[in-house]
Amino acid sequence: MDALVFDAYGTLFDVADLHSVCEAAWPGQGEAIGRAWRLKQLEYSWLRTLMGRYVDFESLTVDALRSTCDSFGVQCTHAMIDRLLLAYRNLRMFPDTIAALRALGGRRCAILSNGSPPMLEALVRNAGLQGRFEVVLSVDAVRLFKPHPRVYQLAADTLRLDASRIGFVSANHWDACGARTFGFRSFWINRNKAPPERLGAEPDNVLGSLTQLASHVG
Ligand code: LAC
Repeated sequence: MDALVFDAYGTLFDVADLHSVCEAAWPGQGEAIGRAWRLKQLEYSWLRTLMGRYVDFESLTVDALRSTCDSFGVQCTHAMIDRLLLAYRNLRMFPDTIAALRALGGRRCAILSNGSPPMLEALVRNAGLQGRFEVVLSVDAVRLFKPHPRVYQLAADTLRLDASRIGFVSANHWDACGARTFGFRSFWINRNKAPPERLGAEPDNVLGSLTQLASHVG
């Protein structure tokens, strides 16, 4: 493998970090709202891709939050939205992220994420990861969301590598399946021993943590 391409949200960065911010806004329901919001966000990304109605991931994330709040019957003020979007740009890395990136040494690494360019730029900067990635790619360049094959193609084209030379790393099983279907060698990071989706595709490798990655890529 000549390069590794990482998913961002849920893989390098912990979106569960947002639950405490949700809890402050909606006491007693923070975790439930946070989880429902994440699912709604992904659902909207798939629906908008099918509909051919792309909007950037930050707008979509706000729409998903508003919809989630409607279904929970709770208020969603501009101040709450601002706080949550700020938190989105300051997500913590998972404990295994730094160790894994270090263990990979000088290997070519990139990010390929649904996130909008400003979201990703802030996220990587706030985590102190500038320079660690050869390139931080947003689906915004193709105005489609994962797991559309053209999104994965963007990484292969940018890195100027054949898909088979690229390892794709995601903790989102459906993303790892999409990448494998496209032609990447895919690694599913299954930190919580989640059951796999049933999508007619399997990741090439299943790892319990990012720290196992270095030994698998040689
Ligand atoms: C991303 C979403 C899928 O970062 O987590 O692209």
